[in-house]
Amino acid sequence: MKFNIALLAGDGIGPEVIDQAVKVSDAVAKKFGHEITWKPALTGAAAIDAVGEPYPDETHEICASSDAVLFGAIGHPKFDNDPSAPVRPEQGLLKMRKKLGLFANVRPTFVFPSLLDKSPLKKERIEGTDLVFFRELTSGVYFGEKGRKDDGNTAYDTNVYTKEEVTRLARKGFEAAMQRSKKLCCVDKANVMETSRLWRETVQGMEKEYPEVEVSYEFVDAVAMRLVQWPKDYDVLITENLFGDVLTDEASVISGSMGLMPSASLGTSVSLFEPIHGSYPQAAGKNIANPMATVLSAAMMFENFGLTEEGKVIREAVNKALAEGVVTEDLAEGGKAYGTKEVGDWLAANI
Ligand code: IPM
Ligand code: MN
Repeated sequence: MKFNIALLAGDGIGPEVIDQAVKVSDAVAKKFGHEITWKPALTGAAAIDAVGEPYPDETHEICASSDAVLFGAIGHPKFDNDPSAPVRPEQGLLKMRKKLGLFANVRPTFVFPSLLDKSPLKKERIEGTDLVFFRELTSGVYFGEKGRKDDGNTAYDTNVYTKEEVTRLARKGFEAAMQRSKKLCCVDKANVMETSRLWRETVQGMEKEYPEVEVSYEFVDAVAMRLVQWPKDYDVLITENLFGDVLTDEASVISGSMGLMPSASLGTSVSLFEPIHGSYPQAAGKNIANPMATVLSAAMMFENFGLTEEGKVIREAVNKALAEGVVTEDLAEGGKAYGTKEVGDWLAANI
């Protein structure tokens, strides 16, 4: 097959980890006879510096006309320390999600057998964990009306959801549940929030379409606790934008390193693949960042094209690297730490 992939390296460690994912993807393409044309485009602080805009129109054109987007990370401390900056890199990410219609953010949490001891959680609690969040990504409090009043002394962010937005996200969750163990948990705060009551009634209304799926409804605060206590109780979880943001960071602790978890953002046309970690500016340019989450995001990309074998060889190479200690310093624990590039080279050579 032939693919055009938009390549948005972004900020901080983004370019370094993206390079490794490209290297590994090219090795996969070579092995299976595919042809990938990479289309680099600017985003984040890098784009603000170059053209004054974190998600320029030209970047959008490239993304919208590609078969997929592979994304590194965005964010830069010079903006974090200046909350009043007129444009911020994160705005580019939100604009991109909205303009590309990426309403479903798929964030899996799984464990690697060779890393069970790296998690701060007890091995027997996490062994075998395999769950996936479907986080709504283009609505909710992230996109509702926000502002100030009373001379700036009162601030508000509005959480808004339509039944249609809930339905399309929930459908992705139900479909995933059908492919997995047929268990779905709707995470909400229906004891307090009207939007959550809409979520709950909408999902309840869909249950009859998926009679085989066992659906549970849990409050977000309880899930936050049970997720790290009994992660194996969960399989597919669906939730709104903000709850999903918080819970997926929490869930990444289960796998032992934030540098390991990939994600996909799905919409009506093009899909985007990115690591769940941020731009880690302290490590930028030092060849120490863990590229595995980005490499595994490339695996999700192949799988999303229906190329299961291609995804599998990447996952196997990553597992082998972890088992053989070909890891960056975040996982080296006093042992030999490989550089970002060296891990990428090793993975490409083991495809
Ligand atoms: C994420 C990030 C973003 C979010 C930020 C950078 C806007 O935390 O992708 O989870 O909150 O969605
Ligand atoms: Mn987040």
